[in-house]
Amino acid sequence: MPKTEKNLPPAPRIAIAIMAAGKGTRLKSKHPKVLHEVGGKPLLAHVIAAAAKIVPPRDVYAIIGHEADRVRDAVAHTGVGFVLQQPQRGTGHALMVAREALAPYDHVIVLSGDAPLITPETIGKLRDFHLAQKAVMTMLTADLENPAGYGRVLRKASNRNEVRVIVEEKSATPAQKKIREINSGFYVFAIKPFYAHIGALSTDNPHQEYYLTDMAGLLGKAKAKVIACKTGNPAEILGSNTRAELVEIDRLIRLAKCRQLMADGATIFYPETCVIDSEVAIGADTTIEPFVQLLGKTRVGSDCRIRSYSVIRNSQIADGVTIRPGCILDDAQVESGAILGPYSHLRPGSEIGEGAHVGNFVETKKVRLGKGSKANHLTYLGDAEIGAGVNIGAGTITCNYDGVNKHTTVIEDDVFVGSDSTLVAPVRIGKGSYVAAASCVTEDVPSGSLAVARARQIVKEGWAQEKRKAQIARKTK
Ligand code: UD1
Ligand code: MG
Repeated sequence: MPKTEKNLPPAPRIAIAIMAAGKGTRLKSKHPKVLHEVGGKPLLAHVIAAAAKIVPPRDVYAIIGHEADRVRDAVAHTGVGFVLQQPQRGTGHALMVAREALAPYDHVIVLSGDAPLITPETIGKLRDFHLAQKAVMTMLTADLENPAGYGRVLRKASNRNEVRVIVEEKSATPAQKKIREINSGFYVFAIKPFYAHIGALSTDNPHQEYYLTDMAGLLGKAKAKVIACKTGNPAEILGSNTRAELVEIDRLIRLAKCRQLMADGATIFYPETCVIDSEVAIGADTTIEPFVQLLGKTRVGSDCRIRSYSVIRNSQIADGVTIRPGCILDDAQVESGAILGPYSHLRPGSEIGEGAHVGNFVETKKVRLGKGSKANHLTYLGDAEIGAGVNIGAGTITCNYDGVNKHTTVIEDDVFVGSDSTLVAPVRIGKGSYVAAASCVTEDVPSGSLAVARARQIVKEGWAQEKRKAQIARKTK
């Protein structure tokens, strides 16, 4: 080892514990609080994403308890560890049960699974401040216009940098309730002294829980250094204890997402009306009109226009695509230059080829529509392979379901399907063929032919006049 490195103190071993075991009583929900979604992702997934930018996922521990299996299943793919808190006896108790998991570390950063706006930058600053100050407990605080519901921070009169105690809302006196500096619920603790004193926590409070916040007073009494690091960005610490807070956080996340997408070159008109999930990507020079929803893992290319009232989930949209108003896309793929809508419904497995058109009230499912093909009006295309240059007339239906099984319709290149045709699968329409309007096609059509599958038209001249005469005669009898 080179000499210079030999003399450096070893880097502190840092873990992150995310408290996520609580029920979330105030949400009045059958679902655990940390699985409620903001920005299209569970609260806990946001906190884990921020934590995993500070330490590797194996050093992140989610403390779970209420509906533990559901919570674990929802975030297991992130690679974090889990600590089970059963029963849940408060935030102090959450850290008591994590003692063994945290033993190999020097410091633990504690985050709240219900406060998803925290950024890696702020977590990093809190850690650095804690290490530089050689503190035993460092808490992130913020001045809030409306501090109601949060724990209030009482600093030491003798030393304003240090914290004397945190008072929870329910135990606060009217004078203490006026304090605007609140405890964010994010902390860093030096593991050894922290666990040396945690046994002194009591449940002597209105909730009869072990409060992690009481560690400030306890450690202070033991002459350990307890300090606060105030953030200039109070929005980051917002907790989602109520439905109103959840919706407000969702709004903030989505507005931030829209701002980032606009910084990357997309135009989003009236962003406050759009619902765009955290993982959505949009290319430059694409325009999103008001009241559009882009959800899940949707990717939109460059130079597209997504018009109002379209709802697009987990879909891939290539460059130069126009989606007219009112389209619904689910697990669909749209290649460059295609035009959809208004009011097209692309269900899972729809692949719309380059320059293809899918128009008004057309529903597709598990369909490949080839390059330049068109299905412009009132059509159902399910379980179909459709080649390039095909024209699907208005009102065409692929009859894909026999009541038990699904069957495939194959329509080869350059076929012209006349309006109001029903194609009873399994059936194949060969290359370049024509299907006469209103046909019910039940047999394969060879390439280059015309299929007429309807009754021949009969014209009875003078029939109407005869009928009327007979009617009048009956009436005057
Ligand atoms: C807590 C703080 C409060 C702070 C606020 C910031 C305490 C006593 N109070 O209050 O000072 O201003 O956060 O948002 O800590 N949890 C567990 N196990 C439990 C109980 C809770 O893991 O036994 C988890 C919850 O799932 C939640 C987090 O801890 O993610 C915080 O609990 P919560 O009940 O929301 O605390 P607050 O009342 O918000
Ligand atoms: Mg909370």
